[in-house]
Amino acid sequence: MKKMKAVIPAAGLGTRFLPATKAMPKEMLPVVDKPAIQYVVEEAVSADIDDILVIIGRNKNAISDHFDSVPELEVRLQQKGDHGRLERVMKSSDLADIHFVRQGEPKGLGHAVLRARTHVGDSSFAVLLGDDLIDERDPLLVDMIAAHERTGAAVIALMEVDPSQIHMYGAAAVDETDTDGVVKVTGLVEKPAAEDAPSNLAVIGRYVLPAKVFEILERTEPGKGGEIQLTDALQELAAETDGPGVVGVVFGGRRYDTGDRVDYIKAIVQLAADREDLGPGLRPWLKEFAERL
Ligand code: G1P
Repeated sequence: MKKMKAVIPAAGLGTRFLPATKAMPKEMLPVVDKPAIQYVVEEAVSADIDDILVIIGRNKNAISDHFDSVPELEVRLQQKGDHGRLERVMKSSDLADIHFVRQGEPKGLGHAVLRARTHVGDSSFAVLLGDDLIDERDPLLVDMIAAHERTGAAVIALMEVDPSQIHMYGAAAVDETDTDGVVKVTGLVEKPAAEDAPSNLAVIGRYVLPAKVFEILERTEPGKGGEIQLTDALQELAAETDGPGVVGVVFGGRRYDTGDRVDYIKAIVQLAADREDLGPGLRPWLKEFAERL
C-alpha cells in the first residue's frame, strides 16, 4: 500500500507571540530545545509517513533552513568531537522528504489545506496542526490512520475540554460506536459559544482525510472569522448520508497547546521536567519555586 502523505499548515501570523514572531514563524519557537514544528514532523514520521508538505506563509526561510543540512556546522561539531549534538543537528535534516508550498493570502485553515491538493493528489492524507503537540508516549495518529483504513471515513481527533473552553475549538456532535474510543461524528461547529456547543468534545489538530475533502473545500464559503474553515468542509462530509462520513478518535493522552502563551510555557516546563537529561536539574527547583508562590 502507498504510504500516506502529511500536510502541516504553518502559515499563521503568530500574532499572540509578537514581537518574537516578527521575523520568525511561530512554528520555529523552541519547545525546550527543538522548534515546535520538529515535534510535529517527528510525530508524522513515527506514524510511518515520510513525505510531508508544509504550507508556509511569510518568513518561511527559517522553516526550510531548519530541515536542511548545514555542512559548516556539522564539520565544526565533528572537529570538536561533539557527537551528541552533531547527531541531533543532523536528525532534523534527515527526518523525511519535506516539501513547501506557499499559501499566498491567509484565508483560513481550509484554504491552507486546499493548497496541498496538487501535491497530495487522489490519496487520503493526514493534516497536523503545529499548535497542538501530542506526547510521543501517547500515539494518536497511528490509531487515526487505522480507523480511516477500517472505515474509509474522514477521521478527526477529539478531546474533552471544559465547557468554558469549547469556544476556542471546533466542537463535535457524536454518537457512540461499537469500538471503544471511536465515535461517529454527526455534526461539527467551528468555535461555538458555550451555550450553542453540541458537546464538550473539541477538535484537536490531527486529521486523516479522504481526497474528496478538496472538492468540498473548493466550494466552501468563508465561515467563522471570514475564513474558509476546514471544520465547515468536514461538517458537509458528516452530513452526507451515502458515504462513510466522519468519525472521531477520542484522545485521552497528553497534549500540549503551544498556540497560547501560558500553555506554551506549561508545555516547555512539563516536557523538560520529564526529560532524563533536564528533569533532575529542573524538578527540585520547580518544587521549591512552587512553594514560594
Ligand atoms: C483550528 C480549527 C479548530 C480546531 C483547532 C485545534 O483552529 O479551526 O476547529 O479545534 O485548530 O487546535 P485555530 O486554533 O487554528 O484557530
